[in-house]
Parts: sequence; structure tokens; C-alpha cells
Amino acid sequence: MTIDAEKLDLFTRELQLCAVKPGETVVVLTADDEWREHAQIFMVAAGNLGARTFNLNVRRGQANAVGVQGRHPLVDNELAMRTLKSASLVIDMVGLLFSREQAQIQAAGARILRVMEPFHILRQMFPTEDLRRRVEHAKAMMEKARKLRFTSAAGTDITYRLGQYPVISEYGYTDEPGRWDHFPSGFAFTQGNDGGIEGSVVLQPGDVLCAFKKYVESPIRLRVEKGMVVEVAGEGLDADLVRSYIESFHDPRAYAISHIGWGLNEKARWYQFAVTRDLASEHVMNALSFYGNVLFSLGPNLEVGGSNDTACHLDLPMRRCSLWLDDVQVLRDGDVIHPQMRVAR
Ligand SMILES: [Fe+2]
Repeated sequence: MTIDAEKLDLFTRELQLCAVKPGETVVVLTADDEWREHAQIFMVAAGNLGARTFNLNVRRGQANAVGVQGRHPLVDNELAMRTLKSASLVIDMVGLLFSREQAQIQAAGARILRVMEPFHILRQMFPTEDLRRRVEHAKAMMEKARKLRFTSAAGTDITYRLGQYPVISEYGYTDEPGRWDHFPSGFAFTQGNDGGIEGSVVLQPGDVLCAFKKYVESPIRLRVEKGMVVEVAGEGLDADLVRSYIESFHDPRAYAISHIGWGLNEKARWYQFAVTRDLASEHVMNALSFYGNVLFSLGPNLEVGGSNDTACHLDLPMRRCSLWLDDVQVLRDGDVIHPQMRVAR
């Protein structure tokens, strides 16, 4: 395989941000023949930085299809798990997110970098140290806050009690032992306290239904009591779609409110799904990360150490919202106004 110079340069800079050093071991984890070129180039980049490197390839198999969260080919694969736990850095192209196995690899001290977007997205949203600084500020603020409220002119007004769950940062690289990140990204999030989320959310045209890779076109009104959606209303097609989708899981825990946070990556585009010619291979990192979004979501809370492992997960990035932590305003009408998180333009 000839190595593309532009890709090698970008992946080398990514591993430098991850502080890959001589003597470290970088394991590239892939499934079947997915992401073969990216895997090869990451290994060349790691080798050029003096690290040992190899590719651990597993069979995805029918039961482990992409999108079924928490179930993947490392379950009961003890030798593969021992290998990954001994690595300095695991490049995850399988998608371990929400799994117990991922938590075990992190607990052993390996850092994990998930990379599952096509190259043009990795280039477009490439992380910076300034993005890290701003995301870490968001994380620190959320860790201290006891209340998060967000509102919109469309009628959203919802309050989350905070403090029970940890805060997770994603800025696109990781140089700390045991830390997980996702290249590319750009947000921080936590989870409201059990039973501690009350209010209404009104999704508006232009908000994003990540599970469908499409935009909301007709308003969807969600009423939330004690951390659960108790009503999905709206006259248009979208309320029907969301209602039917959630019902299809036959799982009452699918109605739980999941993680909450906001996007800080000024390179990410909310309109990406409208302009891409590559909808099948692109995932949702533009939608999750775009600057000034409120990243509202429904479903599981395993990611922050909770017990809800429902397979129904709806990420619903929203535009034009205002958000406060305790009494400090962070977003105003979809713009970041907090000076420590605002981009210097
Ligand atoms: Fe999510």
C-alpha cells in the first residue's frame, strides 16, 4: 500500500498531540477489513515516532454489528483483552464505547483514542490545544455546578440537578494514562442526578436527529418528569418518527434523559449532513461537536457509570439555546458567551 503523505502528516500530528513516545506500544484495534488504510497509516506514524506498533484485528460478526452499543468482539476474548490492557495507547476503530471492556482497558492504564470518521472529517475538525483548554474549562465548571438549565425561544425550559455523576471531556486526543477520547470531537458532558431532571424540550427545524442522520423539520415537544420523557408531542412527521423509534425498543428505560453538555469545536459544522456526499461513511461528530450547540440526549447512562444500558440512544444536538450552570450563563441563543470557552475570532 502506498502511504498518502497528507494522511501520514495528519496522523503523525495526532499521535504527537497524544504524546506518543519512543518505547511506547501503540495497538491499532480493527474489525474485519474496516478502516484498513487508516490502520496502516497510524502504524507508520507510530513507528516514525519510535513506538512499537501492531494491528489487532477481530471479527465483528453478526451479533456485533456497528450501532449495537455495548456488544462487540472483545467480550470473552481474554487474550485480546490482556494485549489491549498492556498497551500505552489503543487506537479504537471497532467502537468500544459504552462497554465494560473499554472501562477495563482504561483502568489498566492504557489511553484509548477512538477514530471512526473518514479522513476528510478528521482533517476538517482536527483538534488544537486551544480546543482542549476550552473543553477542560467546561468540564471543570460542570464538576462544580449543582444545577444546569437550558432554554430556547421555542419553549424549551429544563433543569438538571448535577453532582451525582462524573463529567467527561472529549477534545480529540489523549495524553493522560487511562484516559479515553474521540478524534475528532469537542464537547464536555455529564448526566443529571437520578430523578433530578424536570421541564420541557422543544426541538426545532435545524436541530439534529443523529440516529437518523437528518434534521428536525417539524417541532417535537418533549415533557420530562423525574428524568424521564413522559410525552412526545408534535403534529408533524418528526414527532411520529421519534415516538415510533423509541417504542420499537420495547424498553421503558429508552425514555430516560441521557448525557447533557454543549459543543465547543468551531471547525465542526451543524449543516454537515446537508452538504456531504458521503452520508453512509460519516458518523455524527460534526453534529455532536459544533460550536454553541446544546447536546441533549435520550437513553443509556453507562458512559458516566450509571446502570441504564438500553440500546436506544438518541443524540439530539440543538441550536439557538441559552444555557446556565448555577447562575453563570455559558450560551446565549446558540452562541458561546462565557469568556473562557469562547473562541477568539
Ligand atoms: Fe450520545
